Amino acid sequence: MTHKPIRKAVFPVAGLGTRFLPATKAIPKEMLPIVDRPLIQYAVDEAREAGIEQMIFVTGRGKGAIEDHFDIAFELERTMAERGKDLSVLEPTRLGPGNCAYVRQQEPMGLGHAIWCARDIVGDEPFAIFLPDEFMHGSPGCMAQMVAAYNQTGGNLISVLEMPRDKVSSYGVIDPGARHGALTEVRGLVEKPAAKDAPSNLIISGRYILQPEVMRTLENQGKGAGGEIQLTDAMAKMIGQQPFHAVTFDGKRYDCGSKVGYIEANLAIALERGDMADEVRAIAKALIAQ
Ligand code: G1P
Repeated sequence: MTHKPIRKAVFPVAGLGTRFLPATKAIPKEMLPIVDRPLIQYAVDEAREAGIEQMIFVTGRGKGAIEDHFDIAFELERTMAERGKDLSVLEPTRLGPGNCAYVRQQEPMGLGHAIWCARDIVGDEPFAIFLPDEFMHGSPGCMAQMVAAYNQTGGNLISVLEMPRDKVSSYGVIDPGARHGALTEVRGLVEKPAAKDAPSNLIISGRYILQPEVMRTLENQGKGAGGEIQLTDAMAKMIGQQPFHAVTFDGKRYDCGSKVGYIEANLAIALERGDMADEVRAIAKALIAQ
């Protein structure tokens, strides 16, 4: 059976980023770089690799830098061209009019509400969601692995990973059913449960493939954990009506919503980069030896 292809992705990027203040006072947290690429660029590249064509950004006040980033920087490009500089580094940043759309979330009412803001652009087809501060690093990328799984299962998929029990209450947690390789059936979902009530230690790690019905479920969704409209609650209602699976990502996840995770990601990527790995390794060793 063939399933409708995943052509669109939603990137909720309206969050205030208070954990990174003062860095994020005037700069969106999604523009913080891992070495020399902003976090949002990694997420868009991961989407493109998975065959996704249209990027839908749910933005808010003060997030204009994201739109500028994916636009053509005419003056910059002309000046660089005149000076004979290589423009290929800018190639991934260009999203043409058919490949991107922006919609505003006017009030911070939660992740579920942010996704619902994109309903008209998503329309009646399955779509992906990326939470850009979850930096998923691997080859193939996390979404490409999920799309491969989706081509088998159809329905809804979320990426999951194991988390120490005492940390699960910061996340959405799944109630797992049968497991086949990287695929686990999802029997239930709960957002930010107390550690003692958590159905497992498998947390939702920021990548989703969802059927458009979730938009209608979100429409009538009341507030959940933290007084916010939760995507997890809307997804939970779809279990039993449509296939619902979790994919364990074969790769590495960095929590770039936390300062330590962000530093870890920068160090890890720098240590993989041919243009700087040796130098960075030597510096890191020297610093640790102090
Ligand atoms: C959101 C989701 C949660 C998920 C998490 C991953 O929570 O609601 O289910 O596990 O992202 O980072 P937030 O971090 O926005 O509180």
